[in-house]
Order: sequence, then C-alpha cells, then structure tokens
Amino acid sequence: MLSSRFTADGSFSLYSDNFAEGFHSSGGALEEAKSKFVLPAQLDRFPSGGCLRVLDVCFGLGYNTAALMAALPNKDGPILDCWGLELDRSPLQLGLAEPTFKALWPEHVLACLEAISARGRWQDASGQQSVQMLWGDARKQLRNLPTGLRFDLILLDAFSPGKCPQLWSEEFLLSLAELLAPGGRLLTYCRAAAVRSSLRHAGLELRSLLPKPGEGAGWSSGTMALRHSNDDVQSLPEMGAGWCGLSVMEEEHLLTRAGVPYRDPSGTDEAVLILKRRQQEQALGHRPSTSAWQRKWQGCEFRRSY
Ligand SMILES: C[S@@+](CC[C@H](N)C(=O)[O-])C[C@H]1O[C@@H](n2cnc3c(N)ncnc32)[C@H](O)[C@@H]1O
Repeated sequence: MLSSRFTADGSFSLYSDNFAEGFHSSGGALEEAKSKFVLPAQLDRFPSGGCLRVLDVCFGLGYNTAALMAALPNKDGPILDCWGLELDRSPLQLGLAEPTFKALWPEHVLACLEAISARGRWQDASGQQSVQMLWGDARKQLRNLPTGLRFDLILLDAFSPGKCPQLWSEEFLLSLAELLAPGGRLLTYCRAAAVRSSLRHAGLELRSLLPKPGEGAGWSSGTMALRHSNDDVQSLPEMGAGWCGLSVMEEEHLLTRAGVPYRDPSGTDEAVLILKRRQQEQALGHRPSTSAWQRKWQGCEFRRSY
C-alpha cells in the first residue's frame, strides 16, 4: 500500500506501508534527486554527441532519471541510453495522476515518463535516446541487461538497508560495481558503513557526499563510488562539487560492527533472513561497537581531517 505525501520543497512523494518508509527524505523529493544524483554526476563531463549510459536502480516515481534528463541540454547534449529497474509500476502511475508532479518536468521529460508508464520504454524522435524499464526484482533483472553494457552512472535509490537489505547486499553491490564503465560513478543517498565497505570491497573508490548548509543529514548525505579509469587525467579528485574523501571518522565507522556487510549469496533471500544472517555475523565477530564509535565522535558533527 502506497500513500501520497508532499515534501518540504513542495514536491510530491509516496510512503510505502510494506517497507514502512518514505520514498524520499522529508526535505524534498526533487531537491534530493538534484543534490544527491544530478549534481555529483557532473553532467558537463559528457560531451555533445557522446553516449551517456545510466542505470536507475529503484526507478519509483522516476525523479532521478527525470531530473537528470531535465538537467541535460534538450538538443546537442550527450546521447542518453538509460535503463531503469523497478519492482512496482504503481509509483510512476500515482505520480502521473498528480498534476503538481507532472508540472515539475519539461515537455520531453514528461513525455518520457508517460511512455515508460504506458509501454515500459521511451525513445526520442530521432530514435537515438532511450529509456528502457526492466520491471521486477532488481536482483533478477540485473541479469537481463544486455551483455557487455557498462554504465557511466548508476543511481542507487533503494529503501534503506534496514528495510530493503536485498538491494544493499555485498553480492548485489558487487554486481553493480562490475557494470560500471571505467570512470563510472555509483551514486546513492546511503552512507551506511556496511554499504560503503561492500563498495570498497568491490574495488571502487569512495567519496562522501557533503550535506548542504542547513541540511539535517549531519556528517554526510550519501556516497559516491567510482570505478578507476585507466586514464589518470580522468581520475576523480579527492574533493569536488558536493563531495569529499572519507574523513577519519567515516573510515573508523567502516571498521565497527556497522561495517559488517549484508549477505545474500543466492540473490533470492528475504529481508528477514539477510538481516538475521548479518546479526549473527556481528555477534560472532570482534569488531568495536558502533555506539563506542558514536560516543568518540559525538559533538564532532562534521569532522574532516586527512
Ligand atoms: C526509495 S523508493 C525509490 C524512489 C525513486 N528513485 C523515485 O524517484 O521515486 C524505492 C523503490 O524501490 C522499489 N523496490 C523495492 N524492492 C525492489 C526490488 N527488489 N527490486 C526493484 N525495485 C524494488 C520500490 O517499489 C520503490 O519504488
């Protein structure tokens, strides 16, 4: 069961009873799509006429893809080849039934969302740009992507690890990491130690997304994980627009019990089983407690030192 709600920036969102969680932070659905996905994507890196390949994991209402499309030049921009993974068709249907949601988007973006809702696929008039949905469990549908596709951007917007650990498991994150092109970026609002540890374990370089002034997120508002490019010139600087290397505090976080990954070896386990498995691993391990880490860094809201 999904219910409607409006976020602080006035944009429409949903709450899921099944997952007992909102689709977006109360701060703003549109604002979140822009600050956590579009801004750190640095779209100006993608030249006109070149390909920009995007994987939107947990498409939902489509905010992240739509905000990305709205931020790209409508003509003479990169050629978008976007794939969406989503279990449920109803979030987008509910969005498209809400006039204020539709009013957020330029004409071509709205046409794209409507085509996706109706047919699961959109193509621009030239037939060059496309958005293609794979409906169903993202763990399964990941295997149905065309062989050899490598993504410049992966937007990971699942419900939080405590509610939807299936999409934050070491195995799922490794599969996503393998789909990143050299220089590709995985972006997520999630800053959980288990998720960051798994992304690093998958061979990606980590950056912390910086909260905007006044944002209630505290020490980080998410994670950018990068697959190294062979070309040194393209390697990601330690600091950039809206991100920064992990602080000592964040590195220590990864070593605590919170850094124990979610495991789903078969890629089919239910959330309860994945959570139970992790609790057992945490109890048997010898990692420092996360509450001791919290006490150590209490009051140092946003301490960064290298
Ligand atoms: C936080 S919401 C995504 C918000 C979305 N990016 C948007 O702009 O509205 C999480 C989404 O994950 C979807 N979901 C949950 N479990 C899934 C699964 N196993 N595979 C694919 N999608 C899933 C839900 O249906 C929901 O739409």
